[in-house]
Amino acid sequence: MKRAIAIYSNKGGVGKTTTAVNLTACLALSGKRVLLMDLDPRGLAAGRLGSQRSGAPCNVITSPEKLKSAPIQADYPNICIIPPSPALTDLDQTLGANGDVAARFREGMEEVKQSFDYLIVDCPPTLGAISRTALGAVDGTILPIQCEPYAFEGLGSLLQDIAEFRKKVHPKLLLDGVLLTLLDPADPSSLDVARQVSLRKDCRVFRSAIPRDPAVVAAAQRGLPLVESDIGSRAARAYVELAREVLSYAGT
Ligand SMILES: Nc1ncnc2c1ncn2[C@@H]1O[C@H](COP(=O)(O)OP(=O)(O)OP(=O)(O)O)[C@@H](O)[C@H]1O
Ligand SMILES: [Mg+2]
Repeated sequence: MKRAIAIYSNKGGVGKTTTAVNLTACLALSGKRVLLMDLDPRGLAAGRLGSQRSGAPCNVITSPEKLKSAPIQADYPNICIIPPSPALTDLDQTLGANGDVAARFREGMEEVKQSFDYLIVDCPPTLGAISRTALGAVDGTILPIQCEPYAFEGLGSLLQDIAEFRKKVHPKLLLDGVLLTLLDPADPSSLDVARQVSLRKDCRVFRSAIPRDPAVVAAAQRGLPLVESDIGSRAARAYVELAREVLSYAGT
């Protein structure tokens, strides 16, 4: 089955990029061909999987006809990346709700998806034009939630945004699941958030919760996915488990 999954949240610093990189690496490790599309102009996700750059990255949102030729081989087997174009920076202001661009991008995604088992999209932290275009073109979404006080309230508004987006734009968009991130097992308030989110009946929550782990920061500093940097770390094992869940589940 070929699936495109956007890693999305309207909140910054919740582990979207970490999840996009490490889920991609773990799916590839299990033998799947994976394309990571980095739609955050900072390019942190693509930079962690590929040191090579072949030519100037094109703006795949406004030029979706270039999607098919955009993937470049990453530094690891089974992984291709589409690095972001610097032009994405202004897109939220200039694109607005351009239905034609969104439709062409969706068609381009359908086509490029055929060459891979999974297409993982790293979104920027707003529901602006870039994330809307991405969410309108994927099969499902993973919503990382940082296990900290107030995250529970944030999850409510996030789920509402997704429900509205489904209703108005993409009725077939699936919620692959909410992913608990930055869980600190030594902090009762962090555990409490994880427990409350897991008890929610209105959304699927992945069994695998990603612990707060210095190995994540060390891997990011070295510009590597966790399975390359420290495969025995708690966070690496949690991402391997997450990949297993993703492989066995297709969203609701
Ligand atoms: N499980 C973890 N343990 C420790 N640090 C983490 C973990 N996950 C993410 N981080 C760190 O938290 C910071 C934010 O993570 P990340 O960049 O993945 O979030 P993001 O949601 O993509 O942020 P943005 O909204 O800015 O794009 C980074 O410095 C990252 O290294
Ligand atoms: Mg990010």
